[in-house]
Amino acid sequence: MPIKHFLQFNDISKDEFDYLMKSSRDIKARFKRYEPYYPLQDRTLVMIFEKASTRTRLSFEAGMHQLGGSAIYLNTKDSQLGRGEPVEDAAQVISRMCDIVMIRTYEQEIIERFAANSRVPVVNGLTNEYHPCQILADIFTFIEHRGSIQGKTVAWVGDGNNMCATWLQAAEMLDFKVNISTPSDYNIDPAKTNIKGTHHEWFEDPMDACKGADLVTTDVWTSMGFENENKARRRAFADFQVDTEMMDVAHPEALFMHCLPAHRGEEVAAEVIDGPKSVVWDEAENRLHTQKALMEFLLLGRK
Ligand code: CP
Ligand code: NVA
Repeated sequence: MPIKHFLQFNDISKDEFDYLMKSSRDIKARFKRYEPYYPLQDRTLVMIFEKASTRTRLSFEAGMHQLGGSAIYLNTKDSQLGRGEPVEDAAQVISRMCDIVMIRTYEQEIIERFAANSRVPVVNGLTNEYHPCQILADIFTFIEHRGSIQGKTVAWVGDGNNMCATWLQAAEMLDFKVNISTPSDYNIDPAKTNIKGTHHEWFEDPMDACKGADLVTTDVWTSMGFENENKARRRAFADFQVDTEMMDVAHPEALFMHCLPAHRGEEVAAEVIDGPKSVVWDEAENRLHTQKALMEFLLLGRK
């Protein structure tokens, strides 16, 4: 059987996505009941981080322990990856010693090369291009609060980054729309992000993007790896802060999401992220449940 990787959102089918949502619900319910569930006993996850992380590391590491397995953390600084060992060689070696690998790195190409040389499933824990595990958790959170996302409108305000690209892939698979509002120089490049462009529309004015939206979401103005652009980005994004005015033109039941970490007073106003429409803490918690479902699925298939 070919190895199943999760390198971008559309590496899974719609049917597999629906299965993962159901499985995440079951896994979350067991967790809340303190019910032991060890389908991955004796399995080992290796986590490779070339960028910082709080949520991704914690949710993968805790998740693997909770499923009965163990997790090993590697970073660029303390492994030979930082001293120029080819990604292909690292993949050959690491994948002979573990059952599943999660990687957070820079270019998507790095994770693709790793996966091409891996004997075990590889999961994208964020690249410059995509953040598919976060979108699994975000849509799971939306469904928990509002039901199916099909036919709904998501407003993306801010940078046309890895999160935005992954929302667009999800929109095409699950048939919802994304209204994007970014400064024109920071818009998404569909050619580089493996999207058809059928389910999104760009708005110059973020207020227009938010009008009637069922979900308003944003992310940092400067993603990891782009720190040298920070000054220019703060200038370019000054009018793209999600504030109460934007939330007020959205659907009355609109939710606010942010993958975190957040910068209050930059991409989001404190009243919004700390306000009643915000579901950011559920969103962060759901990383744990959805990734447990994902790891179980990649290793054992459907139950
Ligand atoms: N949202 C997210 O991936 O958070 P971390 O960078 O803390 O992992
Ligand atoms: N777009 C952000 C997400 C952080 C979780 C980044 O890539 O840094």
